[in-house]
Amino acid sequence: VTESDLVLKLLHKYRWSRHVLLADKRVYGFHGELLAKRLRAAGLTLTVCLVPPAETSKSANVYLGVVDKILKAGIDKGSHILTLGGGVVNNLGGFIAATLYRGIGLIHLPSSLMAQIDAAIDFRQAINHFLGKNLIGCIYAPRAILVDPQLLCTLSLRHMRSGIAEAIKHSLTQSPSLFRFLVENADQIRELAFLEAIVRKTIRLKVALMNSVNGHNDGEFLLQYGHCIGHALETVTRYALLHGEAIAIGMQVSASLAVSMNISQSGLIMDHRLILSRYNLPDAIPQNVSISAMLDAIAYDKNILRNTPRIALLENIGRVHRSKEGSFTRVSWPVLRKSLLRNQTHEMHRRELCI
Ligand SMILES: NC(=O)c1ccc[n+]([C@@H]2O[C@H](COP(=O)([O-])OP(=O)(O)OC[C@H]3O[C@@H](n4cnc5c(N)ncnc54)[C@H](O)[C@@H]3O)[C@@H](O)[C@H]2O)c1
Ligand SMILES: [Zn+2]
Repeated sequence: VTESDLVLKLLHKYRWSRHVLLADKRVYGFHGELLAKRLRAAGLTLTVCLVPPAETSKSANVYLGVVDKILKAGIDKGSHILTLGGGVVNNLGGFIAATLYRGIGLIHLPSSLMAQIDAAIDFRQAINHFLGKNLIGCIYAPRAILVDPQLLCTLSLRHMRSGIAEAIKHSLTQSPSLFRFLVENADQIRELAFLEAIVRKTIRLKVALMNSVNGHNDGEFLLQYGHCIGHALETVTRYALLHGEAIAIGMQVSASLAVSMNISQSGLIMDHRLILSRYNLPDAIPQNVSISAMLDAIAYDKNILRNTPRIALLENIGRVHRSKEGSFTRVSWPVLRKSLLRNQTHEMHRRELCI
């Protein structure tokens, strides 16, 4: 069964409505044209909206541009947004589906590894504000998420590694066995069997956390492991770092924070370094990033409460440190600052970021 067959089945009841295929230009060239052709050949009325393949497409401007086009094309309550692309297109399309007509149908067709294991497997839809990541958004459930790892054959190695960073996040926070699997099989990164295994294992772990988010809020901070610092890095570097690269650094800084606060042993720092290096992911803040700019950006993090950052920290692989309040640790600004400074690279051979 192809993705287009599944989409047609899902839309059968709504075949008289106009539907929207939202994709980024690159993914549309690889996989979208054929999909649109098949859907139209089966009789669906489809409007195609294309956005640039970049994080900057998760913006209020692009949002309004796409909404404009869709409204002018004419939709109704039976219309669906099909998002074909990476996390950017999934998040943008999710926010559009949630807000147009106060909610129309949403079907994700994630095409990057990041999207297949994380961004599309979510109810959180968002766009960015120039002050920070995902600051404008809502909770909205897709009707379906169709994951086909074969789409990954055209994904660049850099984006593949960026996606692996989220699998690494789940391994560090929830699963020592996934940690070992990732360390031992890094040379398989281009193999379909390996990618299918990663997709299955990570989705299972993520869904378990999402269920606990709904229950007693435990998973919420684990899902955000490395993200408080990672999001700040993305903001201050104006997205010169990919999302997965930024959270890789965020996780390494979190390990160092945990050790400095006597929550874990120094082996945790080495474990982080080992798994990140297997996938050539960065583990230090680039030299030319201003730490005080990062602290300013962290002030906009969504998990700050009463002016104190609340961050998931690990005692060991698979074991989060729990305070009385939940699965997070309150970290004071001076301690955070010290950790950021300690984890900034001073090695001359490291790549400087163009920002
Ligand atoms: N809502 C959530 O829970 C959640 C979770 C994780 C990530 N995210 C968000 O997801 C975004 C990052 O996702 P991403 O890395 O997929 O970014 P992306 O959407 O920018 O895709 C990365 C790049 O890969 C290309 N690409 C995607 N699929 C391809 C394919 N099959 N073949 C060739 N090229 C392909 C895209 O054109 C783009 O250039 C960030 O905005 C992040 O905040 C959200
Ligand atoms: Zn993420």
